[in-house]
Amino acid sequence: SKRTLLIAGNWKMNKDLAEGAKLASELVAALPEIPEGVEALVCPPTIDLKYVGCHGGILASPIKLGAQNVHWELSGAYTGETSVPMLASLPVAYCIIGHSERREYFHETDEDQNRKARALVAGGIVPIFCCGEPESIREDGTYVDYVCAQVKAGLEGLELTSPDQLVVAYEPIWAIGTGKTATAEDAQEVCAAVRSQLAEIFGQEMADGIRVLYGGSAKPGNIAELVAKPDVDGALVGGASLSAEDFSAMVMKAG
Ligand code: G3H
Repeated sequence: SKRTLLIAGNWKMNKDLAEGAKLASELVAALPEIPEGVEALVCPPTIDLKYVGCHGGILASPIKLGAQNVHWELSGAYTGETSVPMLASLPVAYCIIGHSERREYFHETDEDQNRKARALVAGGIVPIFCCGEPESIREDGTYVDYVCAQVKAGLEGLELTSPDQLVVAYEPIWAIGTGKTATAEDAQEVCAAVRSQLAEIFGQEMADGIRVLYGGSAKPGNIAELVAKPDVDGALVGGASLSAEDFSAMVMKAG
């Protein structure tokens, strides 16, 4: 009775409107059916969301649509930002928050993630909360504590009525875009620790239902091994999500 697996593509800052719609159409054609027990999700850049969802056919397909970022206020003077109600009006089902690239390049804090998580859950969009350690922390051996502290600070106080309202993605920074995948054992170790931390925050029953993904150079060649681990409930995929062939292969191999 494993949790429904989630294979989530994070396109990051790639694909203009035409390219995004093309990739979406290719994915829709490659995945007429998603295997039982698997969910597929694409997260294009904000500007592409509507076109990918409508013209690209994602919203009329079994593939879900997600965003890469959001602001926690409902509306107002926040130039350049996008609100939860705006995403919900499309509709967008998921939103990535706390990606290491946003934490590093845009100076986002745990407190920001906590506000975003609350706003998303309140607006009916599922946050995909990212956490993960840099290489130096991996090397000094304190990575479990580091990641659990991120989870605690980012999610504490969040009120859930169902485990389907939250997804966590563990992405060791040294494995992102490097081709250096963590071993399935490494992924399992930290995903299990994340689940224990979730149990402390939300209780064991809730934690047992929350999906914990792995991210970092996940690809068709390693997805089956990763999701075979008991606490790894799918993947947050960067590079390989930009190829319809690779991403659809990952969805099929997860099933
Ligand atoms: O959000 C996705 C991750 O940052 C992983 O990226 O698959 O290119 O390593 P990657």
